[in-house]
Amino acid sequence: MEETSGRSKPWGGRFSEEQTPLFERLNASLPFDYVLAPHDLRGSMAHVRMLGAIGVLSGDEMATLLGGLTQLVEEVASGAVPWDIRDEDVHMAMERRLTEIVGPVGGKVHTGRSRNDQVALDTQLYLREAVHGHLLGVLGLVETLLGRAEEWRGVIVPGYTHLQRAQPVSLAHHLLAYCSMLERDAGRLLRWFEGSWMPLGAGALAGVNYPLDREMVAAELGFDTVAPNAMDAVAARDAAFEYVAVATNCALHLSRLAEELVLWSSQEFGLFALPDSWTSGSSIMPQKKNPDAAELVRGKAAGFIGRLTSLGALVKGLPLAYNKDLQEDKLYVFQTREELDLCLEAMDAMVAVLSVDREQSRRAAEGGYAQATDVADYLVERGLAFRDAHHITGRLVGHALEMHWELSQVPLADLRRLSPLFDEEYYEVVDLDRVVAAKISPGGTSPERVEEQLLGARARLAGLRRAASEVWAPPR
Ligand code: ARG
Repeated sequence: MEETSGRSKPWGGRFSEEQTPLFERLNASLPFDYVLAPHDLRGSMAHVRMLGAIGVLSGDEMATLLGGLTQLVEEVASGAVPWDIRDEDVHMAMERRLTEIVGPVGGKVHTGRSRNDQVALDTQLYLREAVHGHLLGVLGLVETLLGRAEEWRGVIVPGYTHLQRAQPVSLAHHLLAYCSMLERDAGRLLRWFEGSWMPLGAGALAGVNYPLDREMVAAELGFDTVAPNAMDAVAARDAAFEYVAVATNCALHLSRLAEELVLWSSQEFGLFALPDSWTSGSSIMPQKKNPDAAELVRGKAAGFIGRLTSLGALVKGLPLAYNKDLQEDKLYVFQTREELDLCLEAMDAMVAVLSVDREQSRRAAEGGYAQATDVADYLVERGLAFRDAHHITGRLVGHALEMHWELSQVPLADLRRLSPLFDEEYYEVVDLDRVVAAKISPGGTSPERVEEQLLGARARLAGLRRAASEVWAPPR
């Protein structure tokens, strides 16, 4: 191995002193940015082809460099590249290895390029792949949720507000709420691509002394637009911030779903059960079956918020153009991608194997006096003002509570003491299925409306899948 020395670095010409190992450690992004290697090489290939096309590289040089880069792609894919922290970052590691493969001509790969525009390009390429992967993950989860919703359309559960039983709903209706959230996440992921542009050719910040064909590079790499200003191209991190924001929003949705798995699988609720394979035991309490996986998805949302905040703080107040602070953006971006993929996959798998206790769900919906609003509406139909109807129904609930009755068990004589408007029809009104069936407003929980929602969600899912396949395709 070479001796560590500033002079031994590719940029070491003006340096006479060695870089201290401690600084090397602080400075190096290679320990995390090595994941950019495939993107870095794709960018270099496009750059080299363009340099050949405009005559900055000879045909032979271009061919040699492309041959070396192709070999390097394979080395990276097979894990054969020996990473060395003294390379500082992935860009210099790739250039060093390329030069080892093809000889001194390898140094020509960096003609008309800076690591500043190079890393901006690599990040764009990385983000597009990440966003597309999330998109497929989100749509997969929507598909799974829809499948469960269709299966459980007849299951009645308590719908909650303030975590108090509010009104009975179909479990499909409840799950469709999550489909709705995730569809919006998918929309945001799709829209992320609109803001993605090709930064290469900006050089360090001023542009370069070659008449680069940036459109050619953009076309090869599948970008619609080229960054219009070189300073902005190397300094901007808003696409990364937006990415983390969109991912965070999705993570928040997953955390709410995860919380309901935790809550509903508790003994107190007893509505859901996770199989043993998705739970763990306690080292001291033999009876425990803990929903750790769901808790972790719930907990991981905190990390997303932290990374979003960190990335914002990193960029805030930075003078133009590139500053080394920006190297840290990758920590937040890379972890966001990994964590979101993991959470999406785990939620999808858990929802697929979740089971529901239909009887307990129905009992819970029945026992919470969740039909009370319908009783009030029934009294309104018989001429009472809603406010009075609300009051009388409140007294009815109080009485039923005292007697330990469900609403359907209150005798007609007791009802009539509260209001002479009560008659036999009351017992139909408090029938749980009827209560659910009565919610006929669009978007409501009646069976017809739920059917409509299911069909709508299926159709939109197909549309989103089409859009996902059109917005970007992984490089072949
Ligand atoms: N590793 C660096 C980063 O991620 C690459 C750009 C370095 N640019 C520079 N002027 N030192 O930001």
